[in-house]
Amino acid sequence: MTPAEAQTRIAQLRAEVTRHDELYHRRAQPEISDFDYDRLKRELADLEAQFPQFATTASPTAQVGDDRAEGFQTYRHRQPMQSLDNTYSEAELREFHARLVKLLEREELAYVVEPKIDGLAVSVTYEKGRLVRAVTRGNGVEGDDITANALTIRTLPRQLRAAAGAPIPDVIEVRGEIYLTLAEFQRINDEREEAGEALYANPRNLAAGTIKQLDAAEVARRKLEIVLYGLGYCEPASALPATQADFHERVQAWGLPTVEKFWPARGVDEVWKAVQELDRLRDSFAYATDGAVVKVDPLQLQREAGSTSKAPRWAMAYKFAAQRAETRLNAITIQVGRTGVLTPVAELEPVQLAGTTVARATLHNRDEIARKDIRVGDWVQVEKAGEIIPAVIAVNLERRTPACVPYAFPEQCPVCGTKVVQLEGEVALRCPNLACPVQVRRRVQHFASKACLDIDGLGVAMVDVLVEKGWVKNLADIYRLRREDLLTLGKSVEKSTDNLLAAIATSKRAELWRVIHGLGITHVGVAAAKDLAKHFGSLEALAAARLEDFIREKKQSVIDGIGETMARAILGHFQNPVNRALIDELHALGLAPLAPAKSAPVSAVLAGKTFVLTGTLPTMTRDEAAAKIEAAGGKVSGSVSKKTSYVLAGAEAGSKLDKAKELGVPVIDEAELLRMLGG
Ligand code: IVH
Repeated sequence: MTPAEAQTRIAQLRAEVTRHDELYHRRAQPEISDFDYDRLKRELADLEAQFPQFATTASPTAQVGDDRAEGFQTYRHRQPMQSLDNTYSEAELREFHARLVKLLEREELAYVVEPKIDGLAVSVTYEKGRLVRAVTRGNGVEGDDITANALTIRTLPRQLRAAAGAPIPDVIEVRGEIYLTLAEFQRINDEREEAGEALYANPRNLAAGTIKQLDAAEVARRKLEIVLYGLGYCEPASALPATQADFHERVQAWGLPTVEKFWPARGVDEVWKAVQELDRLRDSFAYATDGAVVKVDPLQLQREAGSTSKAPRWAMAYKFAAQRAETRLNAITIQVGRTGVLTPVAELEPVQLAGTTVARATLHNRDEIARKDIRVGDWVQVEKAGEIIPAVIAVNLERRTPACVPYAFPEQCPVCGTKVVQLEGEVALRCPNLACPVQVRRRVQHFASKACLDIDGLGVAMVDVLVEKGWVKNLADIYRLRREDLLTLGKSVEKSTDNLLAAIATSKRAELWRVIHGLGITHVGVAAAKDLAKHFGSLEALAAARLEDFIREKKQSVIDGIGETMARAILGHFQNPVNRALIDELHALGLAPLAPAKSAPVSAVLAGKTFVLTGTLPTMTRDEAAAKIEAAGGKVSGSVSKKTSYVLAGAEAGSKLDKAKELGVPVIDEAELLRMLGG
């Protein structure tokens, strides 16, 4: 390659890597796999090494990605948060060891091998044992202050636990990864699929997207978790552990969640053995693990090895390549969901991948198919990234035959033939026909399911029968079912029929949120349904709501956690005369859902409680805290008395705190308040 050619290629690669950095770090919506990204970056680094005249500190190879987002305060890290060098090759792992042996002038080196957690890097600071701050990596030098969101993580202690032999330093910054369990990832994606929203490709993107939400209540709905694996700033320095293994023991003793398992290893052969064992075990971990991190164990040697501008010399990530296979795409089928969303599914020639047989993979939506130009008959690469949902990554164009023509996404619903529509701001195409038999079936199944009206005896199969018979054409028909019709369904069905009718009758007095959830309004899941029930108190009030009942000026939500997208979906739902009529019909048939105990237009979790505020809170002003307390039905008073329920104290709290102690009034901190509000 001539220098001129190299210069052109370098410029191309820089632009491409920068674009993918932006997609991954800021938008949490990568377009290519980690493996392909790493390959691009590696090609760039190799060229820059070969043609040093073109190297610059502005190159993405010389920087860590930037996750900073709008709407957050930034915070400058006391020590930069670096990235890690990574490799997919055993030989390079051995070279890493050889370099360190030379650099540190030791024959043998002690390491620890840890899982590499595929989440979002975070730094958490404790002062005198209390959590004061959580910050994302940002650009490595400064990150976003996400304390309020981090406080919703149940397993992250606000207060470190005292432990024998592990005194808590005055200031300690620990670093780790925020992640979502695979189960929670699945749950959220299922909800999104039902709501016709784009699915997240993996838990990492979902965790990153979640932590960057501006509304902590919304964050709390998705159960984020955290694992801590590294040390940042520590004061006094004499409180530092001697080794990485010690560090793990200490953080565990203080009650912080740490890696599920780590392996001490002497020399590179033991390191390699540990890496392989980790690869075998990682499926059983709660988090997605995309590799192993190998770290020099003694902190003294870590300091001696030091770091480059970007990454420490004493650590290396070995990444497990996602498993891929090539197979033929036999057909594309279309599934119609409860809300009418058409989801294309790849029907594959069955192929072995990461220990399972893969015969189907989601193709997400029409745009995805067009972007990748996926055609029936193509040979496609299927990947199970992070062992999650199999995805079609790319087409092998070399094996494409002229018989493969571009895929024409259906313009009609494959079930009822109605012309499909695309709603504003959505990628999905929908069948707008509310009477579409698949939709009716799915809607009724949803309405009767455990998470909604929970009607015993009205399971998936029974609903199929009732819809097939034509007895149930909409939700109200459930309450019109006739005993004599049901008795024709078989011999000796008397008992089950009576049980079913009794369960249907009981459901007329179900809790209001169950009915709201059961209506199947786009975007409205269980948590939102509960908030709506509490706020509106009746179906009629919800159906009559206007936009300003949800959204104030400057797009502020009236109900915490109900944003504009959901508000518009609710309004749209009730603008449809069919849906409005359904509410009246249900009513006429005797459905009288139970409103939440206290149907005041605000939440009432703090009703009857009086708070006194003092000192500086970590993330809110006192006014903001007072507003939250009042919105939850509590009162705020200026002076502490025996009637005070709680004193909310921040930093430099004064005489009110002393008074509280004198009178025995419980003292809480901001985190505790948020917990009360969230719980
Ligand atoms: S140590 C100074 N240990 O992977 C180096 N990082 O690809 C500090 N990561 O930036 C990192 N698991 O966000 C370390 N056990 C582990 C890790 C880990 C995941 C992340 C971390 C890092 C990134 C590099």
